[in-house]
Amino acid sequence: ESGVVRRDRFSGGPARSFLSSLAADERIFEADLEVDRAHTLMLAEQGIIDAETAGSILTALDAIEVAGHDSLPDGEDVHEAIETAVIDRVGADGGMMHTARSRNDEVATCIRYRLREDVLDAIETTLALRQSLLDVADTHAETIMPGYTHLQPAQPTTVAHWALSYEGAVRRDTERLLEAYARINESPLGGAAFAGTTFDVDREFTASLLGFDGVVVNSMDAASSRDFLLETTQALSTHATTLSGLAEDLIIFANRGFVSIADDYSSTSSIMPQKKNPDTLELVRAVAGDAAGNVQGLTTTLKGLPRAYNRDLQRATTHAWETVDAAVEASEVAAGAIATADWNEEALTAEAGAGFSTATGVADLLAANGLPFRTAHELVATAAENSSDYDALDAAAEDVLGEPLGSYVDPDAVADALDPAESVASRNSRGGPAPEATAPQLESGRDALDA
Ligand code: ARG
Repeated sequence: ESGVVRRDRFSGGPARSFLSSLAADERIFEADLEVDRAHTLMLAEQGIIDAETAGSILTALDAIEVAGHDSLPDGEDVHEAIETAVIDRVGADGGMMHTARSRNDEVATCIRYRLREDVLDAIETTLALRQSLLDVADTHAETIMPGYTHLQPAQPTTVAHWALSYEGAVRRDTERLLEAYARINESPLGGAAFAGTTFDVDREFTASLLGFDGVVVNSMDAASSRDFLLETTQALSTHATTLSGLAEDLIIFANRGFVSIADDYSSTSSIMPQKKNPDTLELVRAVAGDAAGNVQGLTTTLKGLPRAYNRDLQRATTHAWETVDAAVEASEVAAGAIATADWNEEALTAEAGAGFSTATGVADLLAANGLPFRTAHELVATAAENSSDYDALDAAAEDVLGEPLGSYVDPDAVADALDPAESVASRNSRGGPAPEATAPQLESGRDALDA
């Protein structure tokens, strides 16, 4: 029987298990059945195989689906194993299923079919994360907090402004994934091994049955190209990098008592009874490393591959699966941790002015009153060596300008500039942290999410 012959052809050799992707192909088992169905229907529709044989093949495919991936006969990969299973059920005519195609266009189609689903999952998790960040921004529009550069106190800001900064980044992550999706969503099926086929195939028909937007026209491109894998893995890696920064911020904020991570997203110690650790966020932070490693592995695998199909491609795919699984999980965990975190407004407010974080505002005030900004900067820097109060600024004015501070600015205005909350409220430039400036950012974030 053909089925036996087929299995025997690749049965032996010490490299058997090295060659086989059957176990890893479980991920594309459903996809392969759908691709087989679409291709079989097309063959019948085009009169390449008769309707009765097509019917038997489709019936066999249904039975194979019910039996599941684990019941497949041995094979080099899921495509071969399913074909063998079809032949086992239908007889030699089951071999008509593979008319006018190759495993090369078949596997490329299966990967795209499955990856579409995974990327949609990834996109959804980015949406959930954006929602969590917008909710935090909504609740904490007026919660002032210290802002840092170089991890040193820099200028006071608000929790809303911080959350919206990540919402903007995650929004771009969503956009990158949507763009990748559009390029994944084209069908290579019908490209055959790479050189097309003598049969009168209808590639648009299979593409539309499988829900693709169109076909990858050039049959060599269709069977060989994996830039869609690279683009997707890169977009996921970029998202994981965004998540790692977010996780790192939360870990630092938790360390300083600014935020309390919910128990659901914390872990404890097996020896230190008092411990509550931000373990989930540390794992989120680590996913960016895995993702970057997968981008590197995939790039290196694809680099310099000649046209057309090469078996290296079998090992390329796993980089994308690993990345999408880890990124989706990390994104979900980050969204949950953000949604359930408790912000300690008292601690944030108390710390917002630490390290003379209002210094820039005082320099701005002097500059607004006619001093060159560089001179104002020098004056405030001189004061900062001693203290951050009015007296220190006044002494610095005498030092730098030879006149008291009061001859340049209204002391009440200086007092306001030194107050962290006033300082935030005054920075109402477009995109700034003042509540009146974060309100439109929040609205645009909501509009983008709805869209
Ligand atoms: N399992 C293979 C892969 O993932 C399928 C294609 C095999 N094609 C071939 N010409 N050996 O790439």
